[in-house]
Amino acid sequence: KPLNTKFPKNFLWGGATAANQVEGAWDVDGKGLSVADAYSFDENLPKERWSDQWLMMTYEQLEEAQNPASKQYYPKRHGVDFYHHYKEDIALFAEMGFKCYRMSIAWTRIFPKGDELEPNEAGLAFYDRVFDELHKYGIEPVVTISHYEMPLHLATEYGGWVNRKLVDFYVRYATAVLSRYKDKVKYWMTFNEINSLNHHPYTSLGVVEENHPHLEQAKYQGAHHQFVASALATRICKDLNPAAQMGCMISYQLLVPYSCDPDDVQATVEKQRHALFFSDVQARGYYPAYTARMLAEKNVVLETQPEDEQVMRENPVDYVSFSYYMSSAVSAHPEKLEGAVGNMLTGGIKNPYLSASEWGWQVDPKGLRTALNQLYDRYQKPLFISENGLGAIDTVQEGDIIEDDYRISYLNDHIVQIKEAIKDGVDVFGYTSWGCIDIVSASTSQVSKRYGFIYVDQDDMGGGSKRRIKKKSFDWYKNVIATNGDQL
Ligand code: BG6
Repeated sequence: KPLNTKFPKNFLWGGATAANQVEGAWDVDGKGLSVADAYSFDENLPKERWSDQWLMMTYEQLEEAQNPASKQYYPKRHGVDFYHHYKEDIALFAEMGFKCYRMSIAWTRIFPKGDELEPNEAGLAFYDRVFDELHKYGIEPVVTISHYEMPLHLATEYGGWVNRKLVDFYVRYATAVLSRYKDKVKYWMTFNEINSLNHHPYTSLGVVEENHPHLEQAKYQGAHHQFVASALATRICKDLNPAAQMGCMISYQLLVPYSCDPDDVQATVEKQRHALFFSDVQARGYYPAYTARMLAEKNVVLETQPEDEQVMRENPVDYVSFSYYMSSAVSAHPEKLEGAVGNMLTGGIKNPYLSASEWGWQVDPKGLRTALNQLYDRYQKPLFISENGLGAIDTVQEGDIIEDDYRISYLNDHIVQIKEAIKDGVDVFGYTSWGCIDIVSASTSQVSKRYGFIYVDQDDMGGGSKRRIKKKSFDWYKNVIATNGDQL
């Protein structure tokens, strides 16, 4: 191949959101409660406790969430009301020149409890309207089938993904959406950040920790069921439309050894597998060689069905997508060093060469080039960067001016590194910055942790006019897209 110094002509520039963080309208048109709808937010709690429920949900909190008389505020039920603003929001995406929009379908709009036999027509019709609106502007939808929003009923009544029945429920749901939208959606992903079940099993698997003294067993059994479900969905997708592309999606934090101590190096290899194990299975279609030792050391024994191996082997994904926000250092002796605050997914060590966001996420644009090279060398499958961005507090000045130069600089530096990776020969076909419009944060449930090019006038307790305001980064990104990444 000749040296490539430019973004491909048809590169998919865009932005990303998830239904549970953006839509709101939690009880409209037959929607049921999702696991995300059970996160409450209390601004009076100390900030470091805002992500407690994200990391560990209790039955008491779930009962409260199902109590119609509850006085708690549940931000993900309200999102930023995309459900009623989608036309206005998509018009703004189009104004920026988006080529694609990564979004998810709320499982609970289609199967409100998850175990119904027939889908909910009003829910299906909503996404028809959204996809039609996107196509009106030539924007390609990139759709995650399950993004942290499985039906709550499947968690409380079935115990979540540990239960094999979840495979059937997911396949029924996936079949409903894949067949309904086969002519409107070409790019799909089966599960958002599938590896994050390691860190927040309630959100990803519907597994409540207190029910599982041997939590590792529950996590990997749940993961196995998701692998099978993903392979089955991939098969259905390709049967319906052979040109459709199915991707996996992992949360990829680049990990680097804290020092050249061989123990740090090996610890890094093993820790990086917390993410790569999942893409290894989904991209190659089988469990990697290190699985036996890894599971034995965790004392995990998987229950499988005879047909699982073949289903997985025959249906690997077409492309590998990942979120990239930060990197972290790894040490074999972490107790002797300062931890990287905010790196919830890895619990890594602070890297003295990097700065961090207000939430402690260590900013490492060059790490994105490394990550792209690592993933492409490993799989030789097309890559899609499905999330990247900076959560920050924005200030609206008089005249609706929001000068988010910090966001521009974060995004610019990362996009520069994507270009470097393209020069390296990496096949990357799209980039969707996270939270292209301000939304409810996944981990802390704040709206004030903002990622967008578009500001939403809404506070953490849901107050505000919900008016949309363009930030300075709006025009910056518009120019990046218009010049296909030439002007950075
Ligand atoms: C990813 C998730 O982990 O990170 C998104 O896929 C999430 O749903 C994003 O919003 C940013 O995290 P947070 O906690 O800042 O919203």
